[in-house]
Amino acid sequence: MSDDRMILVLNGPNLNLLGTREPDIYGYDTLDDIATRMEDRASAEGVSIDFRQSNHEGHLIDWLHEAQAQAMHAVILNPAGFTHTSVALLDAIKAITVPVIEVHLSNPHQREDFRHKSYVSMGAKGTIAGFGPMSYMLALEAALDL
Ligand code: DQA
Repeated sequence: MSDDRMILVLNGPNLNLLGTREPDIYGYDTLDDIATRMEDRASAEGVSIDFRQSNHEGHLIDWLHEAQAQAMHAVILNPAGFTHTSVALLDAIKAITVPVIEVHLSNPHQREDFRHKSYVSMGAKGTIAGFGPMSYMLALEAALDL
């Protein structure tokens, strides 16, 4: 059975390198592995996943606007390094009514001081961090339940 709900999953800079990037922190799963698992889980609920990655802040902002224009059900966002720097990403989240769930593979609060601040958290519905790829699956459960 399928409904018309669409969940947009956005991944920020350097996450295209997942699997080889600092595996001691981020593990060996690739972004494709995560996308496949999310698509399998969502399709069991009849929900569609649109999974994207960009190294460019403006792309992420445009895609958040698109989520609103297309009345998507929710956005799951790993803003990566932009988490800690981007007022513009926060403004885009605040400019839309589609709920945004922030995810992180690692737990930024256990890491360097500069990772303790998240601009995105100020606009996000909620944040899930520290569970590796499972963070995405937990965010998906939350999104499905919204
Ligand atoms: C990250 C955490 C960020 O601090 C970092 O810049 C990333 C990945 C995570 O998923 O753990 O690129 O968002």
